[in-house]
Amino acid sequence: MQKFYVVGNLKMNMSSREEVSQYLTVLHREAGQKTYEHVLGIICPSFVYLAQFDTLPKGMKKGAQNLFPEKIGAYTGEISPVMLKDDGVEYVIVGHSERRRYANETDEMIREKALSALKYYMTPIVCIGETGGERQAGETENILASQLRTLFSDLSKLQAEKIIIAYEPLWAIGTDAVPTTEELFRVRVFLRKFFTEIFDAQTAERIAVLYGGSVKSSLLGPVSWEAEMNGVLAGRESLFPYELVKMMGLFEEEAKRKQNEG
Ligand code: PGA
Repeated sequence: MQKFYVVGNLKMNMSSREEVSQYLTVLHREAGQKTYEHVLGIICPSFVYLAQFDTLPKGMKKGAQNLFPEKIGAYTGEISPVMLKDDGVEYVIVGHSERRRYANETDEMIREKALSALKYYMTPIVCIGETGGERQAGETENILASQLRTLFSDLSKLQAEKIIIAYEPLWAIGTDAVPTTEELFRVRVFLRKFFTEIFDAQTAERIAVLYGGSVKSSLLGPVSWEAEMNGVLAGRESLFPYELVKMMGLFEEEAKRKQNEG
């Protein structure tokens, strides 16, 4: 059975080492000695605070929010995959809509970044999603397909199944609006079919798809497992360690329930 993922994107929040250290103290207290068989938590702080996340509670790994695709060189202000890897980063968010918007990242750049992460043995969590206008116009599937076609073109099955996709409709980020379970399930089915067409059914099953956008623990069923998503990417709620730990616990319970069902 595939693991559930709970990704916490801390974005550009927390503005001092002291604040980060308080966050971590609370996180360790909330998590205690809990262990997880079916869930992986991934916490993605700002680059400057990554080192403070070296020691995380059980079942949690360190992620980054971005990377530059080149290994080394004259790229002022950028962070290379090798630097991240050396810092213990195992996962990296790529192509978040805020980077597409504020840093003009294109699908081609996002592909380069995802490939670079893979090359240095990190797992890219690639964000895709449509705007509110595109959704209204019934364009969701076309938008997702065009974002994914660039990402996956010429990738081997082995490379493809190492990528995690985060479906994050732009209109749901930071808004408290979320898609219905039916809408999400339709997206899930569409993605499975899309991956089956370019690779095969087995590979399609192995590519994890998360949901992101106004996620909170009280919504996990409807936005995740009821729509056959493999987990969630949370922004604001991940700033509350209690919520992060609670989400991980709920996924663990759900996985066990499914397992018992046989
Ligand atoms: P949100 O952000 O949970 O605060 O809506 C999600 C995201 O941008 O990944």
